Order: sequence, then C-alpha cells, then structure tokens
Amino acid sequence: MKIQLHNSKSVDPGSDIIYLIKNKKTDKKAGLSKEQTAYVQKALEGDCAHAELNLYTHFVYLADQKDEKDTSLSLEAARSEGNKAFSFFKSKKVHTLQIADAGADAAWVNAFLEGFLLSAYSFDRYLGKKDKDGKEKALKLQYNGSADLQSLKKLAEAVHFTRDLVNEPYNHLGVKELVKEAKAMCAGYNIKFEAFNKKKIESLKMGGILGVNQASIHEPAFLIMEYKPAKAKNKKPLVLVGKGVVYDTGGASLKPSSGMETMKCDMAGAAAVIGTLRAVAAAGLPVHVIGITPLTDNAISANSMVPGDVITMYSGKTVEVLNTDAEGRLILADALHYAKKFNPELVIDLATLTGAAVRAIGDIAIAAMEVNAGKYKTQLEDAGSRTFERLVWFPMWKEYGDMIKSDIADIKNLGGPEAGQITAAKFLEHFTDYPWIHLDIAGPAFLGRNSGYRGKGATGNGVRLLFDFIKSL
Ligand code: BES
Ligand code: ZN
Ligand code: ZN
Repeated sequence: MKIQLHNSKSVDPGSDIIYLIKNKKTDKKAGLSKEQTAYVQKALEGDCAHAELNLYTHFVYLADQKDEKDTSLSLEAARSEGNKAFSFFKSKKVHTLQIADAGADAAWVNAFLEGFLLSAYSFDRYLGKKDKDGKEKALKLQYNGSADLQSLKKLAEAVHFTRDLVNEPYNHLGVKELVKEAKAMCAGYNIKFEAFNKKKIESLKMGGILGVNQASIHEPAFLIMEYKPAKAKNKKPLVLVGKGVVYDTGGASLKPSSGMETMKCDMAGAAAVIGTLRAVAAAGLPVHVIGITPLTDNAISANSMVPGDVITMYSGKTVEVLNTDAEGRLILADALHYAKKFNPELVIDLATLTGAAVRAIGDIAIAAMEVNAGKYKTQLEDAGSRTFERLVWFPMWKEYGDMIKSDIADIKNLGGPEAGQITAAKFLEHFTDYPWIHLDIAGPAFLGRNSGYRGKGATGNGVRLLFDFIKSL
C-alpha cells in the first residue's frame, strides 16, 4: 500500500486517529469522556498495549508505550504495536488516518512509526484484480509529532524494494532483470554503476562465478555500485558484498524438491546490498560505500560442474568442488578477492549461505563471523540490537579451517556434516585480507511464516541493520 504523508499542525479529534501514549496516560487532547477513559485504562491492563474506541463516525486508537527490561525489546515492542495498528486500520479499510504523539518517548514513537510504515507491504502483482482491490488505494497519513516520518518512509521503501527483488520469482527476475533493477536504482540515486558481462568475467578469470554459471543458459554478471558523497567521513571505503544466486537448484548435487521453491531467495544478500545503497543514498549519509554483487543462477544441465571437479578461482587458488550446491561460497570468493582492490576499511558480506546457519539459530537471527573487524564488531552488534536484526557470533577457529583441506587442491568447497556455517566462512576467509564480517542470512532473509512487520516470504533482512550501522559510523 502506498502511503502519502501530510504533516499537520493540529489534530482533528473527529476522524480516525492513533494516539501514542505512555504508561496508560490518556492525553487530554484525545478528548475522551470519563467512561471512555475508564474503558481504555481497563483495556491497557496486563500485556495489551493498545485499545480501540469505536466512536461510530471514526476510531480512536491508543498505542501505549510499555517499557521492557531492555531498550532493544522496548523498541521491538513498539514496532510490533505499529504493525498491529496498521493491520487494524487496514482491516477497517481506512484511507485517511492521523497519528499524534501524546506522551510516548521519541525513540518509542520512532520505532512505532517504523513498524507501521514497514507493514505497508504486500507482494500482490500476480494476484487477480479482485484480490488487489483496496490494496492499490493509497493511505493518507497525517502525522502530528516530532519524529522524522519522511526519513523513516525512505528507509521503509528501501526495505520494500529489497523485498520485491527477493519475492520476484526466478522466471520474472533472472540475472538480466536484476541488473536492470540495480542499474535503474543507481541512476535514480546518483550511485556509480558498473556491470561486468560474461566476456569481462572470463577475461578476469573469475573461475568461481564461471564454474557455477557453467550449466546456465543465462550469462552471469558482476556489479560494482559506488556511493561516494563529497563529504564522506571515511578515507577508505566500506565494501558490501552480496550473494546473488538468482535461483539455486543445487546443480548436479540437485536439491530435494521439497523447499526448492524458496530458492528464488538465494539472491537476498545481493538484494540487501542494493537496498542498503538505496537507503544510504536516499538519506545522504556521509559515508563512502561500495556494493559488489556476483550474479548467476545455479542451474542443472548436462553442462553442470560435477562433484570432483577442480576449478581455479579469480585469486588463483584451486578448489575441489565436492558439492555443487555449495555454490554461494564459490561466487562470493571471487567477489571478496575483487574487493581487495578498493583497500577497504571493512568488508561486510551478506549471503543466504548455509542450511547449517538456519539449523543452528533458526530464522530469528543472523549467523555472524568476523576476522580482524575490531571495533566494528560491537558497532554492528549494537546496530543489530537497535534494529532487532540480531547477530549471533560464531568462532573462526583454525580447526574449522582444517575441515576444508583437500587432497588434490588448495581447498574443497565442502566441510564435514557439522558446523557448516563456520566451515563456509572459513572457505571465504581464504579470499580476504582485510577486516571482514560475514553475515549468513539464510534464516531471516525469507520466512515461511507471517512475522508481523517483517511479513512473510522476503523480509529485506540486512537493510535496516546496515543502514543503522552506517549511520552510526
Ligand atoms: N542457498 C543454499 C543455502 C540456503 C539454505 C539458503 C536454506 C536459504 C535457506 C546454499 O547454496 C546451499 O545449498 N548450501 C548447502 C551447502 C552444503 C552443500 C555444504 C547447505 O547448506 O545445505
Ligand atoms: Zn546451494
Ligand atoms: Zn545457494
């Protein structure tokens, strides 16, 4: 649903309105009667943090700030309240709505509005017209308060853009279409855009990307997007790398068919990088950021790599490919090696890389690993708490690296049956020589269940995290 913002100096108590209150204190400006106030007080008892009054001509909705034991949980509760309020007025088919600060703290209000705006998403372009009706009508939002709603809206739009890219089926968004989307985004936000085609990738001898792409009838691509504001605070760039497998069949090590339909999400890392660049540029953050995304499908054909093949990577290292379904690390390795040429301050990669990450921590957090990231480790972790895109750190001990030693090549692309998210990261480490953070987003990037303001299917995971991190630098 499109949202049109209108700032208002005053509230109209006679039409649909949400008041953002704190500790059940109903503001005078809500103009509630004694009975109404008593009803609201009762409704807000216990765990419930919102109350609705049906005044026949309109609804008065109160969302109540209830502080949790830590701020991260309080902010998440606020986002969740924003989602509930959005759903309520959507179900009432309200198309003009007011929101007014009425005692809640600024940070809580901000998070409430974020949750509200993030909820205004549906992936409905392939639904019949009947199902779409009503969703296409914009919501006019009048806000009376001190939060920067315009900035929040830009961030939510970048998340929605990312979700669209990931939700789009493979037969509608392959490499060619993704390149087109990224290029158009960059043109709109003054981001330098460069795309290597197959010929260029061949001339650079990017053996990881070419190996994975070998079975495909579609050419791979390699995107470099640079956002360099004149007032950039960092001397050396922050480089973001995103896994862009537009569809992962597993290749010759074919995936089982159950669950394969979700593998259109295997470019969620690339989409998060593209979406983050959009958010950062839209906000004009003073940080030099470069995004790199290797793009290909992992197809199945007579031309596939087969288990046992040895390929030579862009860095010159040789890899024994023992499972063609461990393709993400092969294309990322070439991108991570390429990132060296920018002399980066820090490289962060995002990838739907392993089922092991999902088995370890489920879909509620990112499996994170780092090498020499120094202070950026805690800074990113803090951004994770603030945005509730939380990180769980895994160790990068040498023993895990021993698990990917090969008898016939420098390394192999498959570890043992355990700690797969770590052995995958140890593989990638071979292609880095800078401060580096690896984010395995296989769990939170794409959900099989509805999850409040995050929605179902693609979540855009990583965009708010990185935006907050970059803002905090
Ligand atoms: N794209 C998958 C990982 C994945 C799993 C993403 C679940 C999203 C949800 C990746 O390419 C893959 O297939 N990894 C294998 C690696 C294994 C063969 C070493 C896996 O995790 O099973
Ligand atoms: Zn795979
Ligand atoms: Zn994959």
